[in-house]
Amino acid sequence: MLGEPDPCVIVIFGASGDLTARKLIPALYELDVVGTLPRETCVLGVSRTLMSDDAWRDHLQPGTAEHAKGYDPSRWEAFAKRLFYFAGDATVAETYAEFTERIETLSRHFKCHGNVLFYLSVTPSLYEPIVHRIDESSLILEGRRWCSLNREAMPWQRIIVEKPFGHDLESAHTLNLALGRVFEEDAIYRIDHYLGKELVQNLLVLRFANTIFEPLWNHRYIDHVQISATETVGVGDRAAFYDETGALRDMIQSHLLQVLALVAMEPPSTMQAHHIRQEKVKIIDAIEPPGNISRCAAFGQYSGGGDDDSGLAYHELPGVAPGSTTETFAAIALRFDNWRWAGTPFYIRTGKRMARKRTEIVIQFKQPPAKLFRHLEQFASGGERPANRIVIEIAPREGVSMRFEGKVPGSGITLDSVTMDFDYAHRFEAEPQEAYGPLILDAMRGDQTLFKHRYDVEGAWKAVMPFLDSGADDLRKDIHANYPPGSWGPKSADAMLARDGRAWHNRE
Ligand SMILES: NC(=O)c1ccc[n+]([C@@H]2O[C@H](COP(=O)([O-])OP(=O)(O)OC[C@H]3O[C@@H](n4cnc5c(N)ncnc54)[C@H](OP(=O)(O)O)[C@@H]3O)[C@@H](O)[C@H]2O)c1
Repeated sequence: MLGEPDPCVIVIFGASGDLTARKLIPALYELDVVGTLPRETCVLGVSRTLMSDDAWRDHLQPGTAEHAKGYDPSRWEAFAKRLFYFAGDATVAETYAEFTERIETLSRHFKCHGNVLFYLSVTPSLYEPIVHRIDESSLILEGRRWCSLNREAMPWQRIIVEKPFGHDLESAHTLNLALGRVFEEDAIYRIDHYLGKELVQNLLVLRFANTIFEPLWNHRYIDHVQISATETVGVGDRAAFYDETGALRDMIQSHLLQVLALVAMEPPSTMQAHHIRQEKVKIIDAIEPPGNISRCAAFGQYSGGGDDDSGLAYHELPGVAPGSTTETFAAIALRFDNWRWAGTPFYIRTGKRMARKRTEIVIQFKQPPAKLFRHLEQFASGGERPANRIVIEIAPREGVSMRFEGKVPGSGITLDSVTMDFDYAHRFEAEPQEAYGPLILDAMRGDQTLFKHRYDVEGAWKAVMPFLDSGADDLRKDIHANYPPGSWGPKSADAMLARDGRAWHNRE
């Protein structure tokens, strides 16, 4: 098993940016407060804005005070002494002589043994140029050139790459090639903060540390699976960025297919990263091409109304291209061509300005094979009791609930549904953790379990490409304002499930 995180210099490209201030530094500060960040670890931020070390620390303090749990001014002072800043353009070669020297000096001073964790927190178009410059510098000791040496004894250089990873299959493939020319696959950490969420990881425990679920976890007993991630907010001031992206790319390709892989994959032979990643790659690979797109996808754009986005419809927002057909809601049905899941649909949906903020997985079981209770009065006019269901809630609450049939007390038999509920925070008296910190620690200890493999990313692109291609244009024709804010999405999404005799799990 992988042990303690190694001390290292964390080099953040994009030091003056939003992610660094709101997520990365608060996460590192939290790790420091609870004592899991090795004391020798230091951070070097780089971006073009001219700032001193102290100015960068001052820039980061308000975000940490606001977003980090357990913020304390004196602890911040101590932590901030390990934050350093370098002003420079990371895409030009001239930057790297002095920059490399700075990293080496910090590594010596803090006793990081030459370990460097690069974090690409810049716009995706800069990933390739920066990786190319890293390659040209003398920063990489590990990698192809050194793979025949004793790697355990060597300092390591790893890289965390933010999302989005590519804009389509081709660009993701090109980026993978560019990264692969400089870093070994086991040094590349494609981050997905969704996979850092406690309940997503708990899926592995739920499925593989228990006996009661796995025998039922297949097409014989499960009717279908729903994976939903809905938000109540609109795109806000990210309209221009969002218009280039859309719900399929922003949520389904990048996050929800990862969740799908954990729900659907075969048990790994061990819980080691490479075995888990192998199974994820295999299951993503087993996704069937969708066939008739018009029957297995629905897209939408929210209309105006309410307070968010100044009450404007998506297509009216400044930054959105005239006539844009970018979806703010997407629902797709996927099926697997394998023994476990043959014929069981997985419905995935995501949307903005929806009725509730909720991320959940619904495992809908089939009706029992024999209707032993059909003689009861409650079934006199036909109908069925709801079948068993497991709901795994990821956000905002983290928990698992299971619905089954029970007998109503009293003489005679009447059936009613009962729910067994496990609330993660209540049971373990733990608040949901921000995912970035634990993921950065994993990268420091060389654990890739919760990071995406190159084939995983490309497989997920391959699965969504038919829904992005021109074959899906017809579904986008009448997309403008086709669902009101505060609803559960366009009617076409309900119709998509109704055609299969099913309905979305829309809970108040
Ligand atoms: N923000 C989030 O909540 C969030 C969530 C998930 C993923 N992400 C991803 O994280 C990445 C960063 O997002 P962000 O929101 O932090 O973006 P941002 O606020 O626009 O920050 C971009 C950073 O890149 C720096 N930069 C730009 N050109 C540079 C260059 N040539 N050399 C060195 N630094 C350069 C900018 O600083 P200077 O102008 O000073 O150079 C700035 O610090 C993106 O890939 C994004 O998709 C962000």
